[in-house]
Amino acid sequence: MRIRICMGSSCHLKGAYDVVKKIKELDIKNLKLYGSLCFGKCESGINIEIDGELVSHVSPENVQEIVKKFMKER
Ligand code: FES
Repeated sequence: MRIRICMGSSCHLKGAYDVVKKIKELDIKNLKLYGSLCFGKCESGINIEIDGELVSHVSPENVQEIVKKFMKER
């Protein structure tokens, strides 16, 4: 699984780093985690991309549920 997390200032202020910490807690096999420059969708941040699919409105509270859902679909 390849996840890119927006590290732009708007997503950062909304808690992107806490999203990173929550993803790392999941202990996902073969995880490739990248930071990204602004996705250009700041108003709907925090934005992340999972295996090429953009996911908006991510938060430290919901990110584990979102990632688990993607894992089930693979
Ligand atoms: S800062 Fe994250 S989309 Fe712009």
